[in-house]
Amino acid sequence: MKLSLSQADLASVDVDLLIVPIPGPEFVSDPTFKQLDGTLSGELVRIAKLEDFAGKKGQAFQLHTFGKLKARKLRIVAVSKDKLPTADDYRLFGANVARSVREYKSFAVYAPLAAEQLNALSEGFLLGYYRYTEYLTGPRKPKPVNGRGLLITRDKPDAGQRAALAEAVVVADAVNLCRDIVNSPPNEMTASALANEARRVARESGIRCTVWGNAEIARRGMTLLAAVNAGSDEEARFIHLSYVPRVRKKLPRVVFVGKGLTFDSGGLSIKPAKSMETMKCDMAGGAATIAIVMAAAKLKLPVEVHGVIPSTDNLINGSAMKPGDIYRTLDGKTVEVLNTDAEGRLILADALTYARGLKPTVLVDHATLTGAVMVALGQWRAGLYATHDTLRDRYLEAAKRSGEPFWPLPLDEDIRETIKSPIADIKNTGDGYGGSIAAALFLREFVGEAPWIHLDIAGPAFLSSPHGVSPKGGTGFGVRTALEFIKSYVGQAAE
Ligand code: BES
Ligand code: MN
Ligand code: ZN
Repeated sequence: MKLSLSQADLASVDVDLLIVPIPGPEFVSDPTFKQLDGTLSGELVRIAKLEDFAGKKGQAFQLHTFGKLKARKLRIVAVSKDKLPTADDYRLFGANVARSVREYKSFAVYAPLAAEQLNALSEGFLLGYYRYTEYLTGPRKPKPVNGRGLLITRDKPDAGQRAALAEAVVVADAVNLCRDIVNSPPNEMTASALANEARRVARESGIRCTVWGNAEIARRGMTLLAAVNAGSDEEARFIHLSYVPRVRKKLPRVVFVGKGLTFDSGGLSIKPAKSMETMKCDMAGGAATIAIVMAAAKLKLPVEVHGVIPSTDNLINGSAMKPGDIYRTLDGKTVEVLNTDAEGRLILADALTYARGLKPTVLVDHATLTGAVMVALGQWRAGLYATHDTLRDRYLEAAKRSGEPFWPLPLDEDIRETIKSPIADIKNTGDGYGGSIAAALFLREFVGEAPWIHLDIAGPAFLSSPHGVSPKGGTGFGVRTALEFIKSYVGQAAE
């Protein structure tokens, strides 16, 4: 579905469906409503009455126009009047429109809006329009519509409005790419397939991409990534994407790390069958990381952005790591593995050690790390940890702008005790309490002095039913906030 802006008279827009939002409940006195009602010889008021349309937010009715308007059908949708609609309202409105116009080849929405509102509406639309249909066949396979959607502005669209739409397209494409990668089945989306996806994105967006396989991973001393991969017949991959704008100035450098666990069986500490059903989602942090770097490059943001993704599945052939195994890490610390299902923190430890070597202005990781964070915050909100309060606030501000829910959680020093091992430096489990915090503290051991944000996205990365602008399945959670966060560095000198 291609969206474009256009100034037009509502009576002469040539589309299958024209959608006109009207503030309720006083819709009868709205000038746009009145004008349309006049053109339609009073049909709007009559149908509103017949359909008990009271102008309650979200309520709608639709009619054939029989040539009185150029549009074949007209839909009136009530939107709220009382408060100033927020960006979230526009995003959700856009998503709801998207879900209701799938069968139309062409449609238009009356959107006499400022740039920021247009951005939210079109972003919401493109996010709501998404569906994962790759593996549907026969009548369930949707036919390509190649549709066109118009956003009708009051005046001739200006540069700001055009830029707002263009940016929404780049951002939504990135979120939807992330969703596609996450939704891909784990027999297809292996570590090498994820790396190929990263390479393809890099080629298309002018990003550098380096990929290492098992030999190089071993040679570099990434023993924990190798340990998790030991139980698999698939090779591991270590992926490094870098978008370095070609400017003379030294720019801030934001390094993203993403958990790229393509399937988590739990290893020898095996998961129950039910818990395994959705474990293809365990590379959502890695997929988000690819999408973030891609969008930053496409938007030509004047910030250096890196993406670092350790990738493998967590399986159990005869060589699998065992509870009790101890490994010497890339960073020099020793780690005792007591639960092979706490594998995310292991592969991330090596990736964070590598990433801090890039000397980041800030280091941010996305990981579907713990079930515990879902117990604490529910399935729609991610946990956020930060080494600095100012950094935490900056990220939460970005999250507020994007509309993605995060909540700050503490790096409690007391809990650090629970990951001490009697015979190694640390172990990969705590005492069962504050599981998301224990995992965060484990990761902290590997970030050194880098200012660091850790995002435990186990809940919102993958949903059992649609919510807000997100579909069931992969959501692309984190991508939009990360891009807002990167934008907060635009114009700032490197420290
Ligand atoms: N990938 C899981 C976490 C997860 C759970 C993600 C549910 C998405 C939905 C992670 O590797 C894991 O298994 N964590 C364990 C840690 C425990 C063994 C210390 C958990 O949360 O149970
Ligand atoms: Mn696990
Ligand atoms: Zn996992």
